[in-house]
Amino acid sequence: MQYNNKTVWITGASSGIGKELAIQFAELGARVILSARNVDKLNDLKATLKGGGHLVVPLDLAQPEHVLSTVTVKMSELPAIDILINNGGVSQRSLFLENDFNVYRQLMEVNYFGLIALTKAVLPAMVARRSGSIVSISSVAGKVGSKFRTGYSGSKYAVVGFMDCLRAEVAQHNIHCLTICPGSIKTAIAHNSLNEQGIAQNKPEKSIENGMDVSVAATKMIRAISNKKDEVIIGKGLSGWAPTIKRFFPTLFNRLTAKTNYR
Ligand SMILES: NC(=O)c1ccc[n+]([C@@H]2O[C@H](COP(=O)([O-])OP(=O)(O)OC[C@H]3O[C@@H](n4cnc5c(N)ncnc54)[C@H](OP(=O)(O)O)[C@@H]3O)[C@@H](O)[C@H]2O)c1
Repeated sequence: MQYNNKTVWITGASSGIGKELAIQFAELGARVILSARNVDKLNDLKATLKGGGHLVVPLDLAQPEHVLSTVTVKMSELPAIDILINNGGVSQRSLFLENDFNVYRQLMEVNYFGLIALTKAVLPAMVARRSGSIVSISSVAGKVGSKFRTGYSGSKYAVVGFMDCLRAEVAQHNIHCLTICPGSIKTAIAHNSLNEQGIAQNKPEKSIENGMDVSVAATKMIRAISNKKDEVIIGKGLSGWAPTIKRFFPTLFNRLTAKTNYR
């Protein structure tokens, strides 16, 4: 599918999945709006993208009220948004008994409230045009639980629930809602994952190092968007199969996760 004359807003565009989505959407002819906190990285990316008219809109998803108020005002200056991709997020690798309570707030602010704030600012114009896609990147951790992810999984399950309800509400306005649940994808996510104090752990992990190539994952994501899917799981090996295994063998799955230190 070609995306000429389409505008795609991508959060978390300074790294990993968001960056690759921006590159591939630009190659398909789209104008992209790049958001994240690191403006230098966004500007560097913008300079390398194919085509023109791309924009940088810095956003800190950890400040959802600010996102909602500033983007609501800014919408009048921006081109009509065809696709919003709520991708920006942060993970976690730490045990519940050791976590500061604040870790849970941090994860929910960025992964859940930030996503809702931006969606709330962007969706009304889509509804008025009776056209648009809201895409949210949850995770396989939004479908199954495992050790070290009580806060991350909680925030990603919340995204799945939010998107299921939003889809039901906006179908009558011809708005498409897609939830993407990636398994392990080779990005900087492990390095950026929060520890028990809410600080980036800054170290690699086997599951991510052995994960799906990010360009392959982004291509599959764009195909799901083009085909107007409701929900897709994108991952290789166990990280892709885990939701199906849990669905059909829940007791076995829960026993295995209690015995596995999946990192
Ligand atoms: N990689 C995987 O295995 C995997 C699996 C399942 C789900 N996911 C999800 O995929 C999404 C992208 O992750 P990734 O793998 O590409 O990780 P990544 O390489 O660490 O990229 C994360 C992106 O989110 C942005 N971000 C983080 N905190 C932010 C904040 N407070 N405000 C605005 N932007 C923020 C970062 O930009 P700045 O630091 O510049 O703000 C960065 O662009 C996340 O939602 C993640 O949970 C990833």
